[in-house]
Amino acid sequence: MSDEIKVPRGLANVVVDSTAIATTGSTGNLLYRGYRAVDLADRKSFEDVAYLIVYGKLPDEAELKAFRNKLFSNMVLDDDTKRIMDILKEKDIMRNLRSITSLIKYRNGDFNEMFIQMEAKLPLIAAYSAHAAYGEHLREPEGEYFAEKFFSLIASPEKKKYWKSLEKLMILYMEHEFNASTFALRVAASTLTDPVSAVTAAMATLKGPLHGGANSEVLSYLSGIKNEEDARNFVEEKLAKKEKIMGFGHRVYKKKDPRAQYVKEELRKIAHDDPKFIAAELVENYMFEKKGLPANVDLFAAVLMDFLGIKEIYNLPVFACSRIFGWNAHYIEQVENNKLIRPAAEYTGPEERDL
Ligand code: CMC
Repeated sequence: MSDEIKVPRGLANVVVDSTAIATTGSTGNLLYRGYRAVDLADRKSFEDVAYLIVYGKLPDEAELKAFRNKLFSNMVLDDDTKRIMDILKEKDIMRNLRSITSLIKYRNGDFNEMFIQMEAKLPLIAAYSAHAAYGEHLREPEGEYFAEKFFSLIASPEKKKYWKSLEKLMILYMEHEFNASTFALRVAASTLTDPVSAVTAAMATLKGPLHGGANSEVLSYLSGIKNEEDARNFVEEKLAKKEKIMGFGHRVYKKKDPRAQYVKEELRKIAHDDPKFIAAELVENYMFEKKGLPANVDLFAAVLMDFLGIKEIYNLPVFACSRIFGWNAHYIEQVENNKLIRPAAEYTGPEERDL
């Protein structure tokens, strides 16, 4: 067909639509509705930023209070949902999160209500999944803030004074324009499917090791790195085998991932002598020297969560519980100005033939 346009595989650098939600920006900074994400992480609560992402403006006091009330009043799981998780005992918490979220009841037309339901329940589903599959001690959400409540469900109580470090990470995880899971959500939304189905598509996509799944694979290699020589040997070996090292490289950030650098400095403040932090910096330095590849957010996110006493099984759920607010905004943006996303393919199969 003459009007076909060929684009690079993986849609690298292809602008497929516009968005007013976030950009990686011409300056290399990640911006949420124009504000630098790192500034928001420094100075705003998770709920402030979630509101900004979803509704396009920072909330005033009354709006923030109402938003918190809505979220917190929906932070409950019914017995049937728990029973299903008890039966499934699914050990992959992200898989369970995807499956159980997909069961949230569809309520005709009320998108906001369905998103609030998912956003409020996701942390509880993550914690209950771990309880059902691994017998993890089940706690009640404690505290006044969303991230604080989530922290109380999954992190070590001894590290409670650091809960704001989790909040900062969650703010930086919240949104990233047309990343793979968000794009999957927008493809689903463009068919005018319901929010729960669209989020299920996004979660299925987030789960892959080239996207959100990377943060679960970082700790295992970091624990084997004790010094510079170990770091060099590890990188050399992986590169020689042409294997990817999780926590490095990015489709958009070719020189520096601002989120990674922010989380690294957060770790320097609270965990500068943590062996995994030291190992992460050693690998980061050698990887950059050898291959010119910067660390992405997942390298230091994994170290931070480990320091906070958050078990590896929760790493990806933490990403999902944050990114769902970005998905929420993208769902609305897509359906309010919809065009079905349906690209074409170059056919490489056999010529037309008789059966
Ligand atoms: N380890 C080793 N080499 C790498 C890595 C890595 N992590 N990432 C990229 N490269 C190399 C790749 O082999 C290729 O080398 P060459 O040109 O010599 O063939 C070059 O860098 C370009 O890589 P690419 O895979 O074509 O780049 P991409 O833009 O398609 O992929 C990526 C981006 C994130 C999929 C990739 O960097 C990767 O697989 N990283 C590891 C997984 C990871 O950490 N993902 C988390 C991303 S950040 C969180 C999120 O937003 O989801």
